[in-house]
Amino acid sequence: MTTTDTSSGSPTEQSDREPGARGPGALPGPAPLDGEPVLQLRKIGKSFGSVRALTDIDLAVPAGKVTALVGDNGAGKSTLIKAISGISPPDEGEIVWQGRPVHVRTPKDAAALGIATVYQDLALCDNLDIVQNMYLGREIVERRLLDESAMELGAKRALAELSVVTVRSIRQAVGSLSGGQRQAVAVAKAVMGNARLVILDEPTAALGVSQTAMVLDLITRLAERDVAVLVVSHNLTDVFAVADYIAVLYLGRVAGSGPAADFDTHSTVELITTGRSSRPGAAVPDTSAVAGAPS
Ligand SMILES: Nc1ncnc2c1ncn2[C@@H]1O[C@H](COP(=O)(O)OP(=O)(O)OP(=O)(O)O)[C@@H](O)[C@H]1O
Ligand SMILES: [Mg+2]
Repeated sequence: MTTTDTSSGSPTEQSDREPGARGPGALPGPAPLDGEPVLQLRKIGKSFGSVRALTDIDLAVPAGKVTALVGDNGAGKSTLIKAISGISPPDEGEIVWQGRPVHVRTPKDAAALGIATVYQDLALCDNLDIVQNMYLGREIVERRLLDESAMELGAKRALAELSVVTVRSIRQAVGSLSGGQRQAVAVAKAVMGNARLVILDEPTAALGVSQTAMVLDLITRLAERDVAVLVVSHNLTDVFAVADYIAVLYLGRVAGSGPAADFDTHSTVELITTGRSSRPGAAVPDTSAVAGAPS
């Protein structure tokens, strides 16, 4: 990993800005950042052989806010998520976690920091019940026996904290749950270990209308609990429903980022499909508006 030159005046830095100031031509929107940037990416780069998947990615993900990561197929969204979650570390740049540069080389490193990723396939076992799924690999053992009541209590508490009320029984096999309920169990499992950042990859892709609403509600509640949420989505309706900040990737670069209020569907689609926008505020990669980052 290279060290980023923080004296370069990169757009992530805010120290020389007026409070509330954004990039040139920025549109009016809510005051920037009250949430702390739990995660900051500085000049992240990643190649697969001759394929340059990510270039100079600057992004900050604040606590208590929902940041949506959007972009066309192949834009680099999954690669970026994998870089943050330790599955495929970046070749270049710096990951700053709660103000401290860190190396996230394995999923275990990410988990230890408090980064929980919910992948699209959810990685739940259909034949196991909710409690067994939530404690898979981290079972509570008491005198060499599984402490079922402690695990039931923990699972119930985790679901209750996210106000998941539609599940009939926590002893229900996960295979019998609806898509939205499965997503809820996967999220509850992820946040059970005190996650500070929850990354969701296309959480509503396979869901119907009411289940989508339930998952979007869940995302909002996570943010209300001061968790930083980074959500990848192709669905702009969902994005505009929950996102406080939006970052658009185009061919592995940040084409635009900032408060969701600075984006509309038209400018976002333009950024996704062409990497540019005729609307000035959204066209400038303005990570400072997302960041509130210490320089
Ligand atoms: N393991 C890999 N080996 C080689 N190239 C890869 C690998 N993973 C990703 N890429 C390339 O990196 C680029 C970004 O891919 P990535 O999967 O991150 O896109 P994405 O934004 O997640 O797309 P989608 O919306 O289709 O999921 C693409 O050009 C892709 O072909
Ligand atoms: Mg992807």
